[in-house]
Amino acid sequence: MNQKKPRWDFFLFLMLGRMLLAQVSAESDTLTQSQQLSLNQTLVSAGKIFELGFFSPRSSRSLYLGMWFKNIPGQRIVWVANREDPLQASDSDAILKIGGMNIGYNTRSGVKLVLWSWQAENDPSPGKFTIGLSVEMPPQVFTWNNYSRPYWRGGPWDGGNFLGIPDDEKGYASDINVVVNKQQESAFFSFNNFNVSDVIIMVLKPSGLLNMMEWLENLNEWHVFWEAPANPCDVYGTCGPYSVCDMGKSPVCDCLRGFVPKSTDEWIRGNWTGGCVRRTKLLCEISASGNATKGSESDNFLQLREMKLPDHYTYFYDYEAQICKEWCLNNCSCAAYVYPDGIKCMVWTSELMDVQQFPYDGVDLFLRVAYSELGIQFPIIFRRLKLISVDLSFGFEL
Ligand SMILES: *[C@@H]1O[C@H](CO)[C@@H](O)[C@H](O)[C@H]1NC(C)=O
Ligand SMILES: *[C@@H]1O[C@H](CO)[C@@H](O)[C@H](O)[C@H]1NC(C)=O
Ligand SMILES: *[C@@H]1O[C@H](CO)[C@@H](O)[C@H](O)[C@H]1NC(C)=O
Ligand SMILES: *[C@@H]1O[C@H](CO)[C@@H](O)[C@H](O)[C@H]1NC(C)=O
Ligand SMILES: *[C@@H]1O[C@H](CO)[C@@H](O)[C@H](O)[C@H]1NC(C)=O
Ligand SMILES: *[C@@H]1O[C@H](CO)[C@@H](O)[C@H](O)[C@H]1NC(C)=O
Repeated sequence: MNQKKPRWDFFLFLMLGRMLLAQVSAESDTLTQSQQLSLNQTLVSAGKIFELGFFSPRSSRSLYLGMWFKNIPGQRIVWVANREDPLQASDSDAILKIGGMNIGYNTRSGVKLVLWSWQAENDPSPGKFTIGLSVEMPPQVFTWNNYSRPYWRGGPWDGGNFLGIPDDEKGYASDINVVVNKQQESAFFSFNNFNVSDVIIMVLKPSGLLNMMEWLENLNEWHVFWEAPANPCDVYGTCGPYSVCDMGKSPVCDCLRGFVPKSTDEWIRGNWTGGCVRRTKLLCEISASGNATKGSESDNFLQLREMKLPDHYTYFYDYEAQICKEWCLNNCSCAAYVYPDGIKCMVWTSELMDVQQFPYDGVDLFLRVAYSELGIQFPIIFRRLKLISVDLSFGFEL
């Protein structure tokens, strides 16, 4: 774990905490370096939960050393030692290299652990997709395509949840644990303590789909209780910069309030990747060019509720809410700020990417717009009404 260069570990599954192979150290289930594991031999972990041995995936002749649940039918492989280097049937030697079953990074020591998908259902060699934590504070969980292209973003960790994953009663959050250390510039993600009677695993499929599933003993089957991406809005960047994806609308993409499509033609054709641009210049932009007229009303913030926060934030962990807002207002490149519990001040000084409207469990995003945009979405007839009850009915932050 102390090596300097980034280290990529090829774990297919993340397991609940205590299952680690450290358990394969009781006398009867230990293999020492001088011993060999024969092809028809297996080791069983001390807790009798996992079995280690050689296997061939369905319709494959390659041989891998792997680990599966001893008492769950179907030999669900949870870990493979030699993913890039299958053995021929004649090889009987195998070297075990087993690390901790977690993902994350430590900037100081240069360690980076990701979970890597299989190439195909019957081919454990590393595939196209990885899941890991982004190297930033607070960290976000991502799946990436081709090592670096974001495919799905779970949003920033607030100490108890990833803010980009709305949590209903079924709750993924009680099963996971993220340890963030600002001083060490490190963050690691793992499952909470393993409970034999409650087997939960996370699987990154060759297609990039991330599943969390539990073993239902009475039904004798795996039940997928959570997956991502679950809909087009979950796919990173579906709608382009300064737009918002809403599964409850058709089409799913719309510009953020105060913004218009960058290319109306593309937008109408259903190509949303170009995103949107400001309809009305900000006063700070006009002032910077020396063109502001005296008495112009200054820019302000629209409060957008239940949002999936944009990507690419800057974090001020010690700013109070008012300071956070003022910082944003005083910097013309600041397009939005938020102040969620557990995280506090985050601001955006680059384009707002991958924003989503959640039906519930989102965060209030304060979006900077020109003064004249504050009420523009309402029909003229409501203007007077709006002026009377602006902060009550429409949720503006004034
Ligand atoms: C395992 O395989 C070896 C040689 O391939 C054989 O001698 C041995 O009897 C086998 N053991 C079992 C339990 O099948
Ligand atoms: C994957 O990334 C590499 C460089 O990081 C690039 O050369 C290659 O074209 C990419 N492949 C695809 C399918 O995007
Ligand atoms: C494990 O789960 C079972 C059933 O959900 C529960 O009764 C038990 O207390 C749990 N054990 C631990 C150590 O959390
Ligand atoms: C979508 O629009 C972008 C620019 O907005 C363009 O570069 C891209 O080629 C378009 N894609 C399709 C499939 O038309
Ligand atoms: C200022 O306003 C004038 C007149 O509207 C315009 O011609 C000029 O381009 C503006 N300057 C800048 C820097 O926007
Ligand atoms: C505004 O924010 C940008 C990005 O963080 C920074 O580079 C710039 O110096 C800031 N400007 C002011 C006036 O603080």
